[in-house]
Amino acid sequence: MSKLQRIFVANQAAAGEFVFSCIAKSKDAGQLQSIGLATGSTMLSVYDCWRNSTLDFSQVVTFNLDEYVGLAANNANSYAYFMHQQLFDTISFKKHFLLDGMASNLAQTCADYEAALCEHGLDIQLLGVGENGHIAFNEPGISSDSVTHLEDLTESTMAVNSRFFAADETIPCQALTMGIASILSAKHIIIVILGEKKRAALEKLMAGVVDEAWPVTYLLQHPHVTVVTDLV
Ligand code: GLP
Repeated sequence: MSKLQRIFVANQAAAGEFVFSCIAKSKDAGQLQSIGLATGSTMLSVYDCWRNSTLDFSQVVTFNLDEYVGLAANNANSYAYFMHQQLFDTISFKKHFLLDGMASNLAQTCADYEAALCEHGLDIQLLGVGENGHIAFNEPGISSDSVTHLEDLTESTMAVNSRFFAADETIPCQALTMGIASILSAKHIIIVILGEKKRAALEKLMAGVVDEAWPVTYLLQHPHVTVVTDLV
């Protein structure tokens, strides 16, 4: 049963401050053992706040939502690289779980990741959203019972994400991603939706009807979701 809590923020900096305050509160209350992390430009202000924190996260385990297939961790467009730059090189954690898009057996990698997720659980899951309503890399049409898997990216997602790639670089057409069921297993989900390009996704979510063409609407099946947005 859905219980969306909507928080309006003035801008991206305020979104980051609010999201990090939720993380810090959970940490202070001794309720943060495991957190799901997201990448994307939306999340930058969250990690800006986090890097400036003096809180101790050394007993907290992290899981990342997704990774491109075919990009090594030292590739500047990989999500592993993003996480190291934005957070892991500055803040110490107990352990990072990152999907390996270079693994020789991708199916096994996904199965192992899902098993680790089940073992640790997720106290908080951070999320952004794609312009087409995808969450992590769960593209339109994904089913609600999906777990960590290999996903073919849509043309529109590849087009949107092409802005990060140089003209001579190949944009990955596949990714490993936590599934909808993996994401919904978190106790508390915080989704950040900023800017006009995300208005359609926000409106679908706020309309309150689950629609597989807009994966973000699966969040309506979760009991504790916070939507942080600058869209009024
Ligand atoms: C990618 C990621 C998503 C992220 C989305 C939005 O597709 N897989 O997890 O939410 O980008 O990114 P941005 O915040 O840059 O708009």
